[in-house]
Amino acid sequence: MDSFSTLIRTASHEAHVEAETSTFMSDLLGGRLGVAAYARYTEQLWFVYEALETHADRLAADPVAGPFINPALLRLPALAQDLEHLRGPGWRATLSALPATEAYAARVRECADRWPAGYLAHHYTRYLGDLSGGQIIRDKAEKTWGFDRKGKGVRFYVFDGIGNPAAFKRDYRHLLDTVDADDLEKQRIVTECKRAFALNTAVFRSLGEEFPLSA
Ligand code: HEM
Repeated sequence: MDSFSTLIRTASHEAHVEAETSTFMSDLLGGRLGVAAYARYTEQLWFVYEALETHADRLAADPVAGPFINPALLRLPALAQDLEHLRGPGWRATLSALPATEAYAARVRECADRWPAGYLAHHYTRYLGDLSGGQIIRDKAEKTWGFDRKGKGVRFYVFDGIGNPAAFKRDYRHLLDTVDADDLEKQRIVTECKRAFALNTAVFRSLGEEFPLSA
């Protein structure tokens, strides 16, 4: 049987392609959107990571999610820097979650409160993605909107506490392979992972509607 890290990766492959090729992501990576669209997207991430990271320390003792909790991953401080840069000193008052973002954050909170294994599905979907495709987004954002390399505006994509992302991802996959869950629970984690991707895609869809190309 395939290892769990292979299973979760394979099972979410189709959903990944869908997220990656969504109109909003394609337009963003194609350099066709203004910085306001990028700021609006970053703003949505704030609500998602607030749900992922507020009280995440409580999960540190959990047998399933605990081994994955790592302060080097925390993105909220970086998002605060980026949003301050994008929106100015009063940035906090400018933030508003789209309904799709609200639904995504609510599901993350629900898992964090009641189902640590489900939380792990969300943890994997975001952080491993940020360490992978996130680097492509950073490069594009720097070039399109002129942010300093790894500077304010793209701090979200910079993991100062992770020296070697490839090694980190290898270790993360090893943790997945040794996760303290039986086969049925692993299946449920995979299902939740697909749901996590779908929640991301829904946010992209809303953003796409808010920032249509006036071609
Ligand atoms: C345009 C946007 C995206 C691009 C270009 C992209 C690209 C990539 C690439 C190249 C990898 C492989 C890295 C490796 O093998 O180490 C990857 C992995 C991954 N991506 Fe994305 N991605 C994008 C969007 C997303 C989104 C929206 C999510 C979910 C929110 C996501 C979640 C993941 C995850 C979880 C992995 C790790 C798969 C694994 O090895 O288990 N990605 N991405």
